Amino acid sequence: MTSISSYALTILIVVALFGLMLGLIRLRQEQRLRSASDEIEELQKTSLKDIQKLRDEEARPVRPVLLGIPYLAYILTSFVILASFFILFMENLIVPYPLPEVGNRYWYSYKAPTEFQIQGRTVERRETLVERGEEVTYWDRQLIQTALESRGGVGGKRVAGVILLLTIFFFILLYHINILYPTATDKNKYLILIYAGILTMLACAKMALFYDLFSPYLIPLPLAGMLITILVNRRIVPLIMLITVIVILLDSRIDYSTFLVLLAGGLVSGGRVKRARKRSELMFAALLVGSIMVLVFVCYRLVAQEAVSLMDPDLIASFSNGIISGLLVLIVLPVLEMIFDFASPFRLMELLDLNAPVLKDFFFRAPGTYQHSMVVANISEAVANEIGANGLLVRVGAYYHDIGKMFNPQFFIENQQGGVNPHDELGPVASAAVVRSHVILGVKLARKIGLPSAVIDFIPEHHGTSTIDYFYFKSKKLDSGIKSEKIFKYPGPRPSSKETAIVMIVDSVEAAFRVAENRDEETIRQLVETIARRKLEQGELDRSNLTIGELKKIIDVLTHILRSSAHQRIAYPTPPQDERSSGGKRIDLSEDSGDVAEKIRKRPREEKREEKREEKREEKKTQDLPRVSEE
Ligand SMILES: [Fe+2]
Ligand SMILES: [Fe+2]
Repeated sequence: MTSISSYALTILIVVALFGLMLGLIRLRQEQRLRSASDEIEELQKTSLKDIQKLRDEEARPVRPVLLGIPYLAYILTSFVILASFFILFMENLIVPYPLPEVGNRYWYSYKAPTEFQIQGRTVERRETLVERGEEVTYWDRQLIQTALESRGGVGGKRVAGVILLLTIFFFILLYHINILYPTATDKNKYLILIYAGILTMLACAKMALFYDLFSPYLIPLPLAGMLITILVNRRIVPLIMLITVIVILLDSRIDYSTFLVLLAGGLVSGGRVKRARKRSELMFAALLVGSIMVLVFVCYRLVAQEAVSLMDPDLIASFSNGIISGLLVLIVLPVLEMIFDFASPFRLMELLDLNAPVLKDFFFRAPGTYQHSMVVANISEAVANEIGANGLLVRVGAYYHDIGKMFNPQFFIENQQGGVNPHDELGPVASAAVVRSHVILGVKLARKIGLPSAVIDFIPEHHGTSTIDYFYFKSKKLDSGIKSEKIFKYPGPRPSSKETAIVMIVDSVEAAFRVAENRDEETIRQLVETIARRKLEQGELDRSNLTIGELKKIIDVLTHILRSSAHQRIAYPTPPQDERSSGGKRIDLSEDSGDVAEKIRKRPREEKREEKREEKREEKKTQDLPRVSEE
């Protein structure tokens, strides 16, 4: 009993230390975001001269060099095969437990590491020698001693068979991951996480099935499923679960009921978790996983015609597995986010807080750009959701894509508000350098405030390697003698995901739309199509994985959203004062008051019909009517 309480105490201390570490990580994350003002002040001091000297490489995202090692995926897979083999045959490779003392009770079971003979009787592999907590007799000690002496005799054929099976199944997994993630750095990062998850599950299975430390119904398949869903990809989860269960079964005794319950938990673990944005939603998802595991458990009992009791420890373990998984996800996630530089939905939701000092500063220093970022965020998120991209990441990326503009806001038209244009004092090359610097300064600031790489990517990638046309043509017109277009190009890199590509297109379209005179459907479509085609032809979308079908869909959705917003901007004859004060129904795209697509969707049908009729009537006269002016 003493050993059991010391065991519990050790667990408590480990959990407490882990909690403390977690708290410190959260505090550090918060602090970095809140202490942004100092960093902004420092970057603000960058003079125009310094700006021209800023190196392009600054804007390029820093990726861990180790992840780019050639064939790293194969090296990792070979390692995980060997590690899995080691876990499966741990009791044969190292001493599984010390020889017990007669009369003592132990907090783990003694099982036969391999088949052996004693006094003419054959003891089978994995047969229990002494139950957990049972008093050890002299005969038990003899049995265990013989078991330990014969643990090396596993058999060459068994070893070869298990290694071959592990190789086949892990390479099947690698084949699928290769399809999902063709680029090396991403693939290697995700592989490390997936393999770490599988090895943890195998180690837990060993503790549950060989040492009987806890119920096998508590093997954390749902936990791994939830983490992989949140951080990697939901689509790969069923395959990982299946392969893990196959590997566990390779050398462990597991009954059919445990197999079904664990597999069900693993397979459903990704479902609702994928959509969870708040911690409460995650816990609800975990509750669902636990409930499904219990349901499968009860169903199997019915099939086996066994009695079902609410106090059955296995039933409680099945339910707890889901709940514990949810709690552990909350604890482990921030640590994994920090180690692997992941952007989970929970972290992204935190970055959407408009009260964060960096966003407040952004608003006060560059109100025009701030407005533009909010509009781009609303439109981009709607577009991303339409093509099945990560809408939340797109929204966060769009919030921060132009934060570099807060250092020299007056050089960007949206902040000039008809005032002095400082570019009049500069030559085209210097002007282009200032404009281009918003990317480099933005990346610098983002790194200092600890934004995840997935969000930082939006800053350089929303311009890719495109040319700052206005100053390039101005230079040509002035006959400045500068031949190279490179001086007028953004540093890049080009968008590396669908998400950054969407923001690139929406950013350009929004800027062009803001100054467009004509806003009928045909003109808007043409504007969107021209911009999208240009980005495509210039090769800016080559690395983005966008298909032509998706690009067409983006054009359609964008046209629809802008058309709806333009329609709302038509200035109807001025209503009487009392009607005007009733709030009106105008949706202004330049307003930061929520999701544009949401607003369009929510408008009552009758209102839409009335508008259509109105639209037809107005179409005839619309050209004569004055439009609501742009900012
Ligand atoms: Fe920009
Ligand atoms: Fe922008």
